[in-house]
Amino acid sequence: MALSTAPYKGARDFYPEDQRIEMYIFFVWREVALKFGYEEYNASIIESEELYLSKTSQEIVNEQTYSFEDRGGRKVTLRPEMTPTVSRMVAARRQELAYPLRLFSIPNVWRYERPQRGRLREHWQLNVDLFGVSELAADHEMIILADSIMQRFGANRDSYSIRINSRKLIDHLLKTRYSMDEENALAVIRLIDKKNKMTKEVFNDGLQKLVHSDHIEELTGILDANDFSSLPDDVRALPSAQQIHNLQMLLGRVGITNVTFDTSLMRGFDYYTDIVFEMFDTAPENNRSLFGGGRYDGLVGLFGVEPLPTVGFGMGDVSIRDFLETHKLLPEFGTTVDVAVLIVGNHYEALVELISDLRSEGIHVAVDATDRKLDKKIKSADKSGYKKVLIIGDNELKIKRVVLKDLETGQETSVSFANIADKLFS
Ligand code: HAM
Repeated sequence: MALSTAPYKGARDFYPEDQRIEMYIFFVWREVALKFGYEEYNASIIESEELYLSKTSQEIVNEQTYSFEDRGGRKVTLRPEMTPTVSRMVAARRQELAYPLRLFSIPNVWRYERPQRGRLREHWQLNVDLFGVSELAADHEMIILADSIMQRFGANRDSYSIRINSRKLIDHLLKTRYSMDEENALAVIRLIDKKNKMTKEVFNDGLQKLVHSDHIEELTGILDANDFSSLPDDVRALPSAQQIHNLQMLLGRVGITNVTFDTSLMRGFDYYTDIVFEMFDTAPENNRSLFGGGRYDGLVGLFGVEPLPTVGFGMGDVSIRDFLETHKLLPEFGTTVDVAVLIVGNHYEALVELISDLRSEGIHVAVDATDRKLDKKIKSADKSGYKKVLIIGDNELKIKRVVLKDLETGQETSVSFANIADKLFS
């Protein structure tokens, strides 16, 4: 049986037409991150398995990691996210680095998920993280940066919405107000995180098992509240609730008004400690998360160094591409080849200097020195998406001129060797 040409399930091949889109997305991500003062870093895709066992998401560790033993018997994992890696890197140089520290990266990450629209087993994810700022200014900067990316892509603010919440607030309610222990409180948070993936009955059943009956009504009311004013007065007065309110006001000041306070937004990871946020496409056919993040003040400290206040987010290429396609925001990308040189006859050796000179002038040149007939070469050039070709045969070589053919109009012009660059860009 012949070998399959399909890529691994849930992974993608990027032919040039896909890679051009990918590069455009990365270009915008990079441009905006740099504009906000972030510097790029990178790391290996393989990490030791223990990095993920301590404090990430239960679902990711138990069900979604690609873990295996290397030939030396070490347990290793293909990174399912970048946050543990960047925390490890910062912890390794905790004393030497200067803060505030702004870092970004565009890693490929792997999760064993059920492939479906917007969700694959590998994706590229912009990670933006700010270390050393405990003030609200850091949370504010994250959301402005993510919004700037969307603006740079040409998106309208009514095509995406930003939800924010405070894990600290929910923690306070569960642990202080309802006197729940750590374990039960975490179980409630995980249940709320899955709320939208289950029926109301299953969710309520789960709550009843975990929360004392005296508090269920209030908690349900708070989880259903989707703005600050519908929270009970004494909850609104809590510092964590005030912070969220402030954040929303500060975002409004720079025109980011598509923000909702969503008390049921948990974000699956156990490491988030305070404000969390997530952005969604408002188009119903594409209601996926475009980016998600939050404050995780405890992760760097897990490596045995002094803890660092940190906030960051991840934005995936799959959902961004779906978003750009859904909202018709993807520019048309053609080939990056400026011209193809079609050599007719056995003249490659006579033309090496000319071709080299064209490249030195910054022209992207593809050469066809095969011995096929000219019409075949023109057809192939057209199929490759090239717009212009230079035809050079016996006669052209003798008089040191080429035929410049525009494949879109069919127009042919005779151009001297010395004038090719000028003519191509005129
Ligand atoms: P996350 O919410 O798991 O967060 O992922 C962030 C984004 O990555 C999502 O909003 C989505 O765009 C994309 N994404 C996640 N899983 C998939 C998948 N299976 N297929 C396609 N796209 C996906 C994190 O990973 C956190 N580590 C982000 C973070 C950085 N928090 C702080 N700093």
